[in-house]
Amino acid sequence: MRTQMVISKWPLCSLIALTAMSWLWSSCMVPRVAGCDGFDELFQPNWAPEHFKCEGDQTKLTLDSSSGCGFGSRKTYLFGLTSVQIKLVQGDSAGTVTAFYMSSDGPNHDELDFEFLGNQSGEPYLVQTNVYVNGTGDREQRHSLWFDPTSDFHTYSLFWNRHYIMFLVDKTSIRVFTNVEESHGVPYPKNQPMRVRGSVWNADDWATQGGRVKTNWSHSPFISSFRSFDIDACELSLETDDIVTKCGQLGQYWWDKPSFDELGRHRSRQLKWVRKKHLVYNYCEDKLRFSELPKECVD
Ligand SMILES: *[C@@H]1O[C@H](CO)[C@@H](O)[C@H](O)[C@H]1NC(C)=O
Ligand SMILES: *[C@@H]1O[C@H](CO)[C@@H](O)[C@H](O)[C@H]1NC(C)=O
Ligand SMILES: *[C@@H]1O[C@H](CO)[C@@H](O)[C@H](O)[C@H]1NC(C)=O
Repeated sequence: MRTQMVISKWPLCSLIALTAMSWLWSSCMVPRVAGCDGFDELFQPNWAPEHFKCEGDQTKLTLDSSSGCGFGSRKTYLFGLTSVQIKLVQGDSAGTVTAFYMSSDGPNHDELDFEFLGNQSGEPYLVQTNVYVNGTGDREQRHSLWFDPTSDFHTYSLFWNRHYIMFLVDKTSIRVFTNVEESHGVPYPKNQPMRVRGSVWNADDWATQGGRVKTNWSHSPFISSFRSFDIDACELSLETDDIVTKCGQLGQYWWDKPSFDELGRHRSRQLKWVRKKHLVYNYCEDKLRFSELPKECVD
């Protein structure tokens, strides 16, 4: 019974649990990152806690040849705005992926992703975004950035209400996924509360130049720094809360106000600029991949 509970909470540690219960207790359950600008109150490492380091207001996530690592929020949320500042792996980051995302628990999950795809020294990172609804993703877009994301911290945010999901970089919207459930029959995430998560991991089978450039472990450890976590969202626990009364559209939250029903002209202009200057890949235009383009891609 105890092992089962551990398995659901600590997927990686559960492996160890099967062989050495006492070791698990000391190295998986106890460690918490202290301080770190409130990290500890909102989040917990859920994968390789020993690869986390707290330095001042920063939480540093390390990838080396033994492991990457990841964290998740203690609470789950439905709708709102979530932000974090990240300074990405410097120098040769080829093969590495740093992720900031939200996802629900369980099968048929919903997920909103920022994935920062590393590159060889001097070559630019790409930002991949994706939206999973009810377990199905395949909605990748890739963007270049208008700054070097490794030289300083930049703010990455996810805005989510019942009308649209918006990905923001330093408050500029780079992508919007609109709710076209009624008009196009495309499911939209609105019933499953999500955890806010972050990770650094090795993805050299696909991340850099299509997987041609591998992680060079002689440059490890690869470190991404996170800080200024901000979650302004409706906290919801499916076990104890009723969605409608807790996070329903009664206007008690700012993201449910009529001014957030649609994008507005300023945001639309930003999107157009980003599309023209920084969009590198869009699944909606990939006719080689989809014999029939996904329904949300067709006006
Ligand atoms: C979610 O997916 C499951 C099967 O994977 C399906 O049975 C269910 O109807 C789907 N739900 C929605 C809301 O589309
Ligand atoms: C890495 O750099 C190369 C060369 O500039 C570029 O083609 C590629 O899109 C960059 N990003 C990734 C993730 O491969
Ligand atoms: C990995 O990095 C080392 C040290 O910079 C370099 O000597 C080596 O050639 C690199 N390996 C590859 C496969 O690029």
